[in-house]
Amino acid sequence: MTDLSADHASAKLEILPVTGLPEFRPGDDLTGAIADAARWLRSGDVVVVTSKVVSKIEGRLVRVPADPEERDAARREMVKQEAVRVVARIARTLITENRLGIVQAASGIDASNVAGDEIALLPADPDASALALRNGLRDRLGVEVAVVVTDTMGRAWRVGQTDAAIGASGLRVLHAYAGQVDAQGNELAVTEVAVADELAAAADLVKGKLGGTPVAVVRGLTLTDDGSTARNLVRPVDIDLFRLGTNESIAQGRREAVPARRSIRTFSDEPVDPEALRRAVAAGLTAPAPHHTHPVRFVWLRDAGLRKKLLDAMRESWRADLEGDEFTAEQIAKRLSRGDILYRAPEVVIPFLVPDGAHTYRDARRNACEHTMFTVAAGAAVQGLLVALAAEDLGSCWIGSTIFAADLVRETLGLDARWEPLGAVAIGHPDSEPGPRGPLEPGEGLVEL
Ligand SMILES: Cc1cc2nc3c(=O)[nH]c(=O)nc-3n(C[C@H](O)[C@H](O)[C@H](O)COP(=O)(O)O)c2cc1C
Repeated sequence: MTDLSADHASAKLEILPVTGLPEFRPGDDLTGAIADAARWLRSGDVVVVTSKVVSKIEGRLVRVPADPEERDAARREMVKQEAVRVVARIARTLITENRLGIVQAASGIDASNVAGDEIALLPADPDASALALRNGLRDRLGVEVAVVVTDTMGRAWRVGQTDAAIGASGLRVLHAYAGQVDAQGNELAVTEVAVADELAAAADLVKGKLGGTPVAVVRGLTLTDDGSTARNLVRPVDIDLFRLGTNESIAQGRREAVPARRSIRTFSDEPVDPEALRRAVAAGLTAPAPHHTHPVRFVWLRDAGLRKKLLDAMRESWRADLEGDEFTAEQIAKRLSRGDILYRAPEVVIPFLVPDGAHTYRDARRNACEHTMFTVAAGAAVQGLLVALAAEDLGSCWIGSTIFAADLVRETLGLDARWEPLGAVAIGHPDSEPGPRGPLEPGEGLVEL
């Protein structure tokens, strides 16, 4: 059964401007002015006040140079000071989170409706300001009202700004519908109406921005005071899917891409999306190479039988090598088991160096240098592949073994002598989250001369 009394809607509302208020300055008595101008206030009314006048009477005006350029520079500095976190940067505008947790353009700092040599900060504690005004109106007029302090905000995904509540007292700021059923029998599991924001936006329709009406009264709502304040409207960062702007998210992803690669040695059964693997290979192949050559080939062992044939052959050849080194059977078994990852991994890609286009010299030294140059280029491509796989949420481990069995690899896969295997890459979805990496410091790896 639908319980209409559980709805936040009222049968009818009035939105009344409070006219005749003076221009406010620091130290002025806002409560007294509203009480005088709105003797008609009744219990149950919601008094909606523009934060700018609260800022003014609370002395949150900062004197700045009147010169427009200097004023703008001062304003930018204040935006940074008021911010605890920059959420996004759009052209010259910063979207920040302020000390109250409010995410707003320019930390809510505003040069409108103030003198040319002043800038207004938001009230220090708008919930406290709302409570003080509510208590003051009770003292002066004997009425029990709710108070909402508002500011104008832009909205993600929507053009245009609306007013929202940054301070509130005396009303339930959120109306949750969890457990309620609509007339069609649908359960409203996630609907939670930001009533205080709706009141702020509604009151703005009579306050406006130019006409000097900073206060309006919404009449007709059934008020419940559950002790909530505008703080309850701030979405905690850990459940905020959009805690960073688009450009900032991309930049963070770029910074974290290289260190996100870890050697992953155990994989889940989840299959690897072939398109993701192709994208990663294509990214790896963008690595630099000498003489504008393309000396890298990634061979993807998609045929399970061929993969097993190669790994079995490599295992036997390695066993023969180790037996020649007089290892015990136990030691040999342990070493051979290190190759198991290539049997278990959902996918295996073998990187090859094919140094077509390498220069040849008369002497062995320069030829060896040329070969090193091509080998490091192939290494860069493999690292590129591993990083790109990590960016696709795929784990990988570069296993060196094919380097030690080059002839056998070529023979089994039918490749000619120019193809030099550079290990093998095991690929799959990690079966657990890799632990956090330590702080990234170059340490002895960076030598500054
Ligand atoms: C050319 C090369 C060969 C490697 N061979 C093996 C290998 O045979 N088995 C293995 O478990 N890891 C192998 N690794 C991975 C390293 O052990 C690993 O990169 C190192 O421990 C650092 O850990 P991280 O990759 O998680 O940063 C190899 C890495 C490279 C670059």
